[in-house]
Order: sequence, then C-alpha cells, then structure tokens
Amino acid sequence: MIQKRKASSIVAGRKRESGKKKLTKYHTKLDKKMKSSSQAYLKRQAKDIYVKMAVEQGFRSRAAYKLVHLNGEYNLLKPGMSIVDLGCAPGSWLEVIEKELGKNCTVIGMDKIAIEPVGDYNFIQGDFTEEETFNQVVDLCPKGVDLVLSDMAPETTGHRETDHIRSMMLANIAVDFAYKALKPGGNFVAKFFQGGEEQEMRNELRKHFDKVQFTKPESSRRESKEMFIICFGYKGKKD
Ligand SMILES: C[S@@+](CC[C@H](N)C(=O)[O-])C[C@H]1O[C@@H](n2cnc3c(N)ncnc32)[C@H](O)[C@@H]1O
Repeated sequence: MIQKRKASSIVAGRKRESGKKKLTKYHTKLDKKMKSSSQAYLKRQAKDIYVKMAVEQGFRSRAAYKLVHLNGEYNLLKPGMSIVDLGCAPGSWLEVIEKELGKNCTVIGMDKIAIEPVGDYNFIQGDFTEEETFNQVVDLCPKGVDLVLSDMAPETTGHRETDHIRSMMLANIAVDFAYKALKPGGNFVAKFFQGGEEQEMRNELRKHFDKVQFTKPESSRRESKEMFIICFGYKGKKD
C-alpha cells in the first residue's frame, strides 16, 4: 500500500513548458536515495493497470490476473476439484480460487514464504527443492488431485540464462510432482522464463498428457520472459 502511494507520487510530476515532466520534491528525494532499478520498478507499478485492479478488487498482488486470464481462456477451475498451488505466496492465486470455487474445492498451497491464510485452504511452508517439503505435499494428496498449478519463480538476477535455468529447475520439480500427484485426466500449469530448454520439457510432457501448449496470459508483462506451459489430460501414473 505504502509502495503504491510512493509509486503514484512518481508519476504525479507537473509538465514543464518544454513538455518534460518537472520532478516533484519527493521524486527528487527518491531519485537520490533509490537505485535506478527500484525507481524503474515503482514507475512500472504506478502505470500498471493490473496493480490498480488488484488494489481495487482486493487481491494481494497483480499475479492474481494471470490465473484469472488462464482460467478465462482454458476453464481450469471447476467446482469440487482438488488443487495444489506451488509457489502460492502471497496468496493471490488462492484468492482467485476462493472467488471462483469458495469452499467447493480442496486446496493445498505451498511456498517457502509464509502467507496469511486464505479461507480454510491448507498451506505448507517449505523449500520445494528439498525432498522433505516435496514429500510432505505428496503425502497430502493420497487420492490424487485434479489440478497442479506452479507459479514458482526464482529471484531474478537479470542474467537471462541464469534466470532461465533456475526457473526450469523449479518447473521440472513441479513436473515431477504432477506425475506423482495428478489423477488421470488431471491438468498441469507451470511458469518458467523462456530460454530454450522449455522445448525439451514440452516434448517430455507430450508423452504424458493429451495436449500440451505454451501460453502467456494477457496480464504477464510483455517485456518479461515469463511464460506458462499448460497440459491437459494426464494419461496416468508414470513409473
Ligand atoms: C511469482 S510468486 C507467486 C505468486 C503467487 N502465485 C500469487 O498469486 O500470490 C513466486 C513464488 O515462488 C516461490 N518460490 C520460489 N522458489 C521456491 C521454492 N524452492 N520452494 C517454494 N517456493 C518457492 C517464491 O517464494 C514466490 O512466493
């Protein structure tokens, strides 16, 4: 909230006669104190329609709209289903699920960061790259689940190849989890940063799902390398 107020101050500069924006006193102060990457982030946030919508509609983050758009396009969320949401913090995808399905579903959220609970959905805190956390979530799905979502993302370094490789590692762990936890017919969605290795992941997933495709929801920033792989109709347990 505080961040958003700061952000709108930044774009509230007055126009000079030359047409250039005059910096407010506050803006100048920010300029001096903040790294240019932080300023760029705040400026982007202030202009971003999905940040504004998230505040107005009471979602914890703009990430909510990625699931809203994926669901709008692919009809992923259905009453009565069981869902695992990997990398769920701060919880806006869980909020979208709650808005769509309310109590008419079973949900397990997982993240290494703690979250404020969403409804009475389950939450596991842990690092999913660690076997203990992975197995803990598997153990909570003894009957299998209908949908595995992964919005897990590494902290970005700005180095394209590094970010790609780290995101693919998380996506591939989500794939291993999906093979263990999905019911036949179940669906899987995972985020990654584009870079090349995703083709191999798609080829592998095509062996185990009826339909596999890449998708970038409207709310995913155009300049971001972020992409989602979406898989329909799990063919059944992989050995
Ligand atoms: C883009 S955020 C997810 C936003 C979320 N979908 C929402 O709507 O609120 C990515 C999340 O992945 C989590 N994450 C990254 N690596 C992880 C790991 N190894 N284990 C668990 N969570 C991880 C981060 O902590 C972060 O909360």
